[in-house]
Amino acid sequence: MSIEGKTVLVTGGTGGIGKETARGLAALGARVILVGRDRDRAEAAARELGAGAEACTADLSALAGLRALAAEVSARHDRLDVLVNNLGGMTAPRTLTPDGVETTFAANVLAPYTLTCLLLPLLRAAPAARVVNLTGGIPGGPFDPANLQGEKRYLGWTFSQYNHAKTAVMAMSRRFAAVTGVAVNVAYPGHAYTPGNRATTAAAFPYAYRPLVPVIRFLGPRLLNDLAKPARSSIYLASSPEMEGVTGVYVNAKVERAPWPATVLDERNCDAVWNLCARLADVTPEPAAP
Ligand SMILES: NC(=O)c1ccc[n+]([C@@H]2O[C@H](COP(=O)([O-])OP(=O)(O)OC[C@H]3O[C@@H](n4cnc5c(N)ncnc54)[C@H](OP(=O)(O)O)[C@@H]3O)[C@@H](O)[C@H]2O)c1
Repeated sequence: MSIEGKTVLVTGGTGGIGKETARGLAALGARVILVGRDRDRAEAAARELGAGAEACTADLSALAGLRALAAEVSARHDRLDVLVNNLGGMTAPRTLTPDGVETTFAANVLAPYTLTCLLLPLLRAAPAARVVNLTGGIPGGPFDPANLQGEKRYLGWTFSQYNHAKTAVMAMSRRFAAVTGVAVNVAYPGHAYTPGNRATTAAAFPYAYRPLVPVIRFLGPRLLNDLAKPARSSIYLASSPEMEGVTGVYVNAKVERAPWPATVLDERNCDAVWNLCARLADVTPEPAAP
């Protein structure tokens, strides 16, 4: 599949790695739909990308926002070739969304789950649709399927709810790849200093690391300001002809295929994530036609 002329939706596409992903795909000829929360920022980003880029706004940490976005995109388009579920990040201290869902789980796991389910008819209308989900942190570390929303413990950045959520999105992606018939793969972007990092408060870090926060704030914009590099893995999964018909794989920041962590291969963990998402979103994907 050439990405030229294909319709691609990028969540978190108005800033950070998502905007660079959208820019890279637009440069390859894709018609990109960018999603952010702020109308002016989204329209400015779409103008910057040119090439027929479209702006949508929705708060994707809320189920109402996800449903509204899916309805808007389904009304405007009759097919979707690529969905890049790029939105993600860390919230600390622990908060709940208006739906009563822990916010980090909502943005990193429930949002891609719900959006993929709701846009599945549009994806299936495309000849060779692809879904790209983003991982991050240190996925594959300790994982507790009974603590998916940090109900028992909610730790800072390292060994955190963020790592937990990124492991969960990998487990969920494997299950999507198995049941939907659409290509669903996972990208690890690598590190960049983005709006999300800038907004992360010291409360997200374990106590021992908090004195380092000013150092990170000083060095981050100087050492990690190349956003094009971390966009490569998503762009590759979204557009590379090598990925034609490939599903259920994970690529690292070097854009190489990497093994799934053992926690992600554990079907009990996949079940826990899948069942929780299905219950919270109150939607499940229609299985692939036999
Ligand atoms: N940055 C890193 O070092 C790093 C490392 C590994 C993995 N990752 C992963 O890579 C992905 C992108 O990371 P990033 O650092 O570029 O993220 P980011 O800076 O937080 O992304 C900002 C984008 O997300 C949008 N956004 C934020 N909250 C939203 C919400 N509730 N609803 C809709 N849009 C929302 C923003 O839109 P507006 O502000 O315009 O509303 C903007 O477009 C994430 O999945 C992250 O976990 C990042």
